[in-house]
Amino acid sequence: RNVNDKDLSIIKKASILTSKGKIVWVGKKTQLTSAVFKKLNIKQNSIKKISLKNSVVMPGFVECHTHSVFAGDRQNEFEMRNNGKSYQDIANSGGGIVSTVKHTRKASSEQLLLDLKKRVKNFKSQGVTALEVKTGYGLDLKTEIKVLKLLKKIKNLKIISTYLGPHAVPKEFKTASEYMNYIIDKVLPKLAAEKLFTRADIFIEKGYFGEDLTKKYFDALKQYNVHLTAHIDQLTCSGLVGNLCLDNSIKSLDHLVQVGDKGIKNLSKSEITSVLLPTADFYLKMNYPPARKLIDSGARVAIATDFNPGSAPSQDLSFVGVLSRLEMKMTLSEVLTAYTLGAAYALGLEKEMGSIEVGKQANFICLEDNYDQLFYNVGYHPVKKTIYNGV
Ligand code: NIG
Ligand code: FE
Repeated sequence: RNVNDKDLSIIKKASILTSKGKIVWVGKKTQLTSAVFKKLNIKQNSIKKISLKNSVVMPGFVECHTHSVFAGDRQNEFEMRNNGKSYQDIANSGGGIVSTVKHTRKASSEQLLLDLKKRVKNFKSQGVTALEVKTGYGLDLKTEIKVLKLLKKIKNLKIISTYLGPHAVPKEFKTASEYMNYIIDKVLPKLAAEKLFTRADIFIEKGYFGEDLTKKYFDALKQYNVHLTAHIDQLTCSGLVGNLCLDNSIKSLDHLVQVGDKGIKNLSKSEITSVLLPTADFYLKMNYPPARKLIDSGARVAIATDFNPGSAPSQDLSFVGVLSRLEMKMTLSEVLTAYTLGAAYALGLEKEMGSIEVGKQANFICLEDNYDQLFYNVGYHPVKKTIYNGV
């Protein structure tokens, strides 16, 4: 989990052989002999060669935490925060998540899809080949289904759909507990029957969802066999990471700005990936999560944009990487790993993506500059080509 430059396993003058969207061979070009083709049962003259001379080829980025389907924006909140109001103050006065819910419920599927496609294109141009997208701006069954169905229409990169019903309590419910009953009784069975999601998320925070409802939610999710994740310790320390790490079925815990030493210790002993989202901390003028402590104690770390209209209105991966290096003191190798293999682990997809290995999906990026130019200049994306599924 601790990576250095050597662990990047850079091969100079390399070749990669792919077939049907999978990597079947990787190594030095000189070692790709006719014996290899024979062994793989591939006709040497049937292959299509792509020359990527002088270019760095690396695994496609895995963007493992976004809220990419929403309508409207929250520009006014930017000014409010600048005038000293906190994220919580703004939410209490009718802004925040529920204001995006209002706009998203009203928006047509066509408009939401159009916006989503633009955002997907932006991510892909930066080298993203797998994109996690959360719901959580519909909250009611109708809009959550609408959003999850839209996600099925995206084919030019891998979409991982996460249900985030417990993102906030919608106005039609008096309490979080009533809303949780609705989620468990009415929403989850329908979404699961249509196989619309593979992960489930919850916003664990004072004023949102607490320990008891989280446990109830995770218990109810067991029968659906989906991966679990949570927004946790973002604004306040829940103490839950330290006490029980919640559950073994959890793949990632995200934000962790306020996580304490006990929580770090628990994470370091677990298979849970810590997903750090420094763009949100930047916009909310918060501290940054203890990346160094997490990594040095042996926890697996991933990073992501957290792209959303409130706390992180930026899709820029270079910004995430620069903040990770500057503010969280991660090394470049750690950042590269966190944005590829680490993020794949966070999504439970480490056997399918995140590195260039035989058997994994043929998802690559080709750089028109050296890899050390990544995560150095904010806004610079030296990605010449993004290859998804071998094309
Ligand atoms: O990851 N903290 C909860 N969810 C988002 C923010 C969503 C919003 O403000 O609309 C986050 O920061
Ligand atoms: Fe988030």
